[in-house]
Amino acid sequence: MKVRPVFVCQSCGSQSPKWLGRCPDCGEWNSFVEERTSATATVDRGAVAALGGRKARLYEDVDIVVAERLATGISEFDRVLGGGIVPGSLVLLGGEPGIGKSTLLLQAAAHFAATVGPVLYCSGEESEHQVKMRGERLGVQGAPLYLLAETCIERLIEEVERLSPVLLIVDSIQTVFSTKIASAPGSVSQVRQAATDLLFTAKGRNLPTILVGHVTKDGSLAGPKVLEHVVDTVLYFEGEQHHAHRVVRAVKNRFGAVSELGVFEMTGNGLRPVPNPSRLFLAERSLGVPGSVVLSTIEGSRPILVEVQALVTAATFGNARRTANGFDPQRLPLLLAVLDKRAGLSLATDDVFVNVAGGMRVDEPAADLAVVAAIVSSLRNRPAAADLVLFGEVGLAGEVRAASQAALRVREAAQLGFGRVVVPDGNVAAGDVPDAMQITEVRTVADAIDAVI
Ligand code: TYD
Ligand code: MG
Repeated sequence: MKVRPVFVCQSCGSQSPKWLGRCPDCGEWNSFVEERTSATATVDRGAVAALGGRKARLYEDVDIVVAERLATGISEFDRVLGGGIVPGSLVLLGGEPGIGKSTLLLQAAAHFAATVGPVLYCSGEESEHQVKMRGERLGVQGAPLYLLAETCIERLIEEVERLSPVLLIVDSIQTVFSTKIASAPGSVSQVRQAATDLLFTAKGRNLPTILVGHVTKDGSLAGPKVLEHVVDTVLYFEGEQHHAHRVVRAVKNRFGAVSELGVFEMTGNGLRPVPNPSRLFLAERSLGVPGSVVLSTIEGSRPILVEVQALVTAATFGNARRTANGFDPQRLPLLLAVLDKRAGLSLATDDVFVNVAGGMRVDEPAADLAVVAAIVSSLRNRPAAADLVLFGEVGLAGEVRAASQAALRVREAAQLGFGRVVVPDGNVAAGDVPDAMQITEVRTVADAIDAVI
């Protein structure tokens, strides 16, 4: 078979016959790597047959089938999957190294093996012994759990055929390679091939499959975007280095709601589901202290609640200081000017410090309202309500402007146990958010201050 070199962007999968310094599609620099693919696209008959000889059917003739779900036995994981894993579905779990992906999946595999049937846990990153050592900490025993340290996708699929497991775990997709392709494991074409082979296996055998995916420095999943399109569900594992709590979030789910999240605590013997995340979150917050409010912000496609703190003190001498940590320092004087001109609150002789707790950085303008509320709360020395969340952009005329994905922000607040939100006027439709949420719509900064403080 004739082989021609092709250069593939490792960031977006864009192809070019020659090397390029910058990807014309995604704009990434120095991302092209030579990969070898076969010149003629061959149709994999076996793979086509595995999908079954389907014929197009009339819309009316198609039955409604409620997807059956298999519980993994780990409550928070089932919750984020939408109530368990759907047979034949392909799930991608992404997260930074050391966050606990392998731990969570080994726990899920053990539960699954004990309650549903044989599970094949395929690890390309660790030997069987290493996996077993972790299993001992987690208390795995007496279940038909098969471990396989293998990186060749063809061998892996042979083992699937031999063992007929009811769940397959591949840790990680970046370590798997296909002998059909000459490029290195983890390259775009290898990842794409491996994912496609696993997709055929999952759909053909109705075998639920969970893939572990690495993430890049900026926190997005490494490898081609096609990976995220191929799978049915994309989950992200997140957590702060200095905290024991971990969050698994669905960013795509063909069988359930996105913006669903599962919260865990990392303990000495594995991850423990945290059924009440709001308590965990509130425990780290200083309640009833003036100058602290909770903001519902969006990071990429994900809503995150953060605590915004402000401290207003009389300036001792010279110019008043304005400091912002985790918030645009250029924007702070602007908000103070709006407060002065539109709400009649002069802070010319005060030092103003703003901090987003937990080392978070908030870049979006929708953080304005929370910053303003925190400042006024500190200035008046009156705390804001503990179950209150707010968001909204502040304009120079003192108007409060709509934020994107407002319903998502409100739902996140509701999910974490907050009962009240202050939002820009007309930003959320009543049907989009939980009924129990008390919504205060504000048009101006002055309205917002009245509503919060
Ligand atoms: P791991 O699942 O190996 O992370 P990933 O697969 O995402 O790279 O998690 C490793 C971390 O979790 C490691 O720093 C040790 C810690 N850990 C615990 O705190 N308790 C445990 O019971 C286990 C198994 C790991
Ligand atoms: Mg791992």
